[in-house]
Amino acid sequence: MSNASVHANRPSSLTITIDGREVNAVRGQTILEAAEAAGVWIPRLCHFPGLEEFGGCRVCVVVANGRSCASCTQPVAPGMVVENETEQVLETRRAIIEMLLVEGNHFCMFCEKSGRCELQALAYRLGITASRFDALWPKREVDASHPDVLIDRNRCILCSRCVRASRDFDGKHVFHFAGRGAHKRIVVNSSGSLADTSVASADRALEVCPVGSILPKRRGYDVPVGARTFDVAPIGAGTERARPEESR
Ligand code: FES
Repeated sequence: MSNASVHANRPSSLTITIDGREVNAVRGQTILEAAEAAGVWIPRLCHFPGLEEFGGCRVCVVVANGRSCASCTQPVAPGMVVENETEQVLETRRAIIEMLLVEGNHFCMFCEKSGRCELQALAYRLGITASRFDALWPKREVDASHPDVLIDRNRCILCSRCVRASRDFDGKHVFHFAGRGAHKRIVVNSSGSLADTSVASADRALEVCPVGSILPKRRGYDVPVGARTFDVAPIGAGTERARPEESR
């Protein structure tokens, strides 16, 4: 029998277990996608619907069949047993978020993205009030040269959402990575500054930034504090509310 006919004969639907609950999945889905479709929320930062997976932040870590993996890149398999909300998994996620918080310069009380920032919202949802790690206080550049857009690298978590969205949603390739390790940073596709690029405030590269790193100017307080996305409901609540009736 040829490989093609073996694949053709494999059923496309399968079942996995997430925290003891049976969940229907489709061959080719990632664990994160299957969980999402079943109303089970898995934290994520670099994953964004419609963008190629990056697998860089590791916030979406789960234990699948006894091994830790990134749920945004790990495909489902029949009978897979996934741990999503065990204390071990939650503790790993807390450590990752705490490291992200000290690796940049995050001052939530002064940040206009407060209440809409996914990093801040994840920290609240995971019960983080302070990081156990020492702050690095790196020196990072702010580029406010563009009339309508600014980039504050102090808040950048290197998730690459802007890189992929500028390339794949906006067709512009404005943002790239440069440097390695602790020197890795976001740069723009001009020899000078943001003002010399084709970026525009309507670009989806701005919209997908999970933190307050790439922002449109003059919109900082369009929604008052207290009425913002994660002031109203915790991150992940939308997915959990959409859980199919039969699987509650
Ligand atoms: Fe999976 Fe970032 S969301 S590694």
